[in-house]
Amino acid sequence: MNQDGRTRLNQTPEWTALAKHREQLEEADLRALFAADPGRGTGYTLQVGDLYIDYSKHLVTDETLRLLRELAAATDVFGLRDAMFRGERINTTENRAVLHTALRAPRDAVVEVDGENVVPGVHAVLDKMSDFAERVRSGEWTGHTGKRIRNVVNVGIGGSDLGPAMAYEVLRAFTDRDLTVRFVSNVDGADLHEATRDLDAAETLFVIASKTFTTIETITNATSARNWLLGELNAGQEAVARHFVALSTNTEKVTEFGIDPANMFEFWDWVGGRYSYDSAIGLSLMIAIGPDRFREMLDGFRLIDEHFRTAPAESNAPLLLGLLGIWYGNFFDAQSHAVLPYSHYLSKFTAYLQQLDMESNGKYVGRDGQPVDWQTGPVVWGTPGTNGQHAYYQLIHQGTKLIPADFIGFAEPVAELSEELKAQHDLLMANFFAQTQALAFGKTPDEVRAEGVPEELVAHKTFQGNHPTTTILARELTPSVLGQLVALYEHKVFVQGAVWNIDSFDQWGVELGKVLAKRVEPALTEGAEVPGLDASSKALVAKYRELRGR
Ligand code: F6P
Repeated sequence: MNQDGRTRLNQTPEWTALAKHREQLEEADLRALFAADPGRGTGYTLQVGDLYIDYSKHLVTDETLRLLRELAAATDVFGLRDAMFRGERINTTENRAVLHTALRAPRDAVVEVDGENVVPGVHAVLDKMSDFAERVRSGEWTGHTGKRIRNVVNVGIGGSDLGPAMAYEVLRAFTDRDLTVRFVSNVDGADLHEATRDLDAAETLFVIASKTFTTIETITNATSARNWLLGELNAGQEAVARHFVALSTNTEKVTEFGIDPANMFEFWDWVGGRYSYDSAIGLSLMIAIGPDRFREMLDGFRLIDEHFRTAPAESNAPLLLGLLGIWYGNFFDAQSHAVLPYSHYLSKFTAYLQQLDMESNGKYVGRDGQPVDWQTGPVVWGTPGTNGQHAYYQLIHQGTKLIPADFIGFAEPVAELSEELKAQHDLLMANFFAQTQALAFGKTPDEVRAEGVPEELVAHKTFQGNHPTTTILARELTPSVLGQLVALYEHKVFVQGAVWNIDSFDQWGVELGKVLAKRVEPALTEGAEVPGLDASSKALVAKYRELRGR
């Protein structure tokens, strides 16, 4: 029994039924499942908004899906979902509501936190962002010397970087190509150096993105950026107001840093960092693509929110994807999950999902404060498809590990490509379809022999198949489709955290490293004694100082 009175997940009858079902499925393979059901290729699919989701190439039957839905019902996933949408404080370890869904609620919606409707505040900030973005894009907002802004540098890390940086890449074809937009996150000075070395400070706007405004990497980079700007312009503090804006929940710290609160775009503690790029944290993106495109993206998010909130379990896409992940992670011992986009524009998408998924569900302590004794979040990894094919796909096809994968692709290339480059799209997508086919159905020894392969090579050229994949296909990559994709993964992560009974919205695991870094820094700079430093770290610090000639 859990401390909260619930039966422990792996002792519920629903879990036991799934474990038993898994044993019975031992022999099942995808060839057999497809042979037994000619309608599987079209039947095991969902159309949600613009996303066509094919889950037929999974090691599941109708019975598997039914049992997984029973597990979701037993763990009250929809109950927690409704509590989230209602604004209840479901992030219990931080005592906060979890309301990223309110960031894309329509103007007339009512979402209350402690009796206060938060939607008017959300739209007031969106309007303020839109106004500012238009002023920058039109050239009305000028820098200290009167020059128009041509460069935007977002300074932030984690959720204050990965979301806007990813979305900027995804939506490059929708951006104002006359603007240079860059993202600085690493406290390694090289990052800021490379981002600013060819920029004219008089034309550069820094967007300092930090929910807490206390994150050491961001504040350090922001301070260096301010010094660079003032040095380049040979100006005093008064130049800051035209070149620095802040995205934060912390007015006091923003003011302390020297940014006028009038140039601050606010959000709230009920928006988690990794769920925040559709809040004020998206300002750099909005400047790049314009407010209308940004709102189209929010519409895409909202479409999936509504689907997740209202669709029955049988056709609820985030529920389905979450449960499939649980099926492999908990009943096949899969340790990782690959996300493989067949779009160059989605090159940062998986890196974004790493924080979304791994910071949310990388937990070993349950909501009741007890360690869990079942697997939780997987290692999420992947890069754009065809490049991966020539690097790590070998291991997915013929390695010893089961790696479920999501394949994401689009029917249309982006509009601005030349005709010749557009023609390459069919080749890209031929690879997309070929890979999931090869992963699912493989190649039997007999098929290999029939090709005349010498017997000693037959085993090497045999593909066992049975590697599960989800295919997500949309007509084209638009702001709305991006919103739909992100919301789909947000809610998938939610479903898994709910079943595993963990708090998906805190991140205590990143705190220890931060505290220790603060303690170790004086040892590096001044050779100070760090009380309690272990022997290995002590020797490494000494080596570092020696190498630096200190
Ligand atoms: O990595 C830990 C973390 O707290 C993330 O959750 C967050 O997105 C990131 O740091 C940045 O935090 P902030 O926006 O407060 O600077």
